[in-house]
Amino acid sequence: MFEVLPQLAPDPILGLSAAYREDNNPDKIDLGVGVYKDEQGNTPILTSVAKAQKILLERETSKTYITPQGHQGYIDNMLALLLGDKSPVLMADRVAGVQAPGGCGALRILSELLVRCNDNAKVWVSDPTWANHIPLIGSAGLKIETYPYFDKDTASIRFDAMMEALKKVEKGDIVLLHGCCHNPTGADLTNAQWDAVLDIAKEREFLPFLDVAYLGFGDGLEDDAYGVRLLAENLPEVIIAASCSKNFGLYRERVGLAAIITEDSKTRQIAQGQIQSVARGIYSMPPSYGGALVDIILSDTSLRKEWESEVNAMRNRMQTLRAMLVEKLEENGADKDFSFVNQQKGMFSFLCITPEQVREMRDKHSVYFVDSSRVNIAGINQQNVGTLAKALVSVL
Ligand code: LMR
Repeated sequence: MFEVLPQLAPDPILGLSAAYREDNNPDKIDLGVGVYKDEQGNTPILTSVAKAQKILLERETSKTYITPQGHQGYIDNMLALLLGDKSPVLMADRVAGVQAPGGCGALRILSELLVRCNDNAKVWVSDPTWANHIPLIGSAGLKIETYPYFDKDTASIRFDAMMEALKKVEKGDIVLLHGCCHNPTGADLTNAQWDAVLDIAKEREFLPFLDVAYLGFGDGLEDDAYGVRLLAENLPEVIIAASCSKNFGLYRERVGLAAIITEDSKTRQIAQGQIQSVARGIYSMPPSYGGALVDIILSDTSLRKEWESEVNAMRNRMQTLRAMLVEKLEENGADKDFSFVNQQKGMFSFLCITPEQVREMRDKHSVYFVDSSRVNIAGINQQNVGTLAKALVSVL
């Protein structure tokens, strides 16, 4: 039966890890998949998470099913983190939410829900966007369109072109926006630009679909929520897919959240039932473990503080790595100005080089990153930055 299927090329992001593992060069550098790494190249378990694991081990008395929506404490804590403790939409009982298997799971079930609402709906995604957005959303049956977002020549956001495109979006269409730390470019909207997006969302009556996978990695946990909170508080409907993979370092536990802000409390109940039924039709209920850990951390004042400082430390280190790379490139005589890397936010930067140059980096220098020129900044360290800068200068 399966011979009728075509052999697929490796995944553009996950495939890089396999290629990296097979490379025998001792100086190989992995800037592919978006995982945080420390100076030694490890992705350690956060201390706050390790403590929560101990608590959970003591506390958990059963492995029976959890409820279809997941841990309610996790959902409540995550909604407060994203929307603010005193969020008016939470006070008004306008937010439906379920724990989802990772940010991907959240994106997918929200997409399935959108199909239930309107199977002709179009989702507008930024050009470029995270490579997996298109299969995740498209496989649910939604049509995908793109709006201009990033100019490789100037390494900046094409905001005017983006606004022009959003002016053509029809009522009922969906616009996918990255809440912060845009993946793959690292180029984020300013607060003033978010304000302008809000105005156009009101005017065109489109539904914002916010993907929030890197909260805390840009300017901090509060500052990074500006766009999310602005849209949530000022529009009748917004949907949010959030992930705890990066900021809690819970990648393999698959912890995400799908949230739906509805016009009123009655519609919230409808949305809650529908999103749970979508999940039931795919995986029934989410895995318990990761959500239980996040709930423990966010509910405990001292663990929460510890987690916040771990997020701050990861962010600060990535900012230092950006500066280090830019400096090393200058030192090595790069004839391209890479100072834009310092302005970009979060885990990724677009180096704005060609796919041929990216492949040359891989084939000749064993430096692995996505063809789009997206690098995982957290993969840089004191040991490899010199080799990286030299290789990059040589392919320019
Ligand atoms: C990434 O963008 O590298 C991560 O979100 C991992 C993934 O699933 O692609």
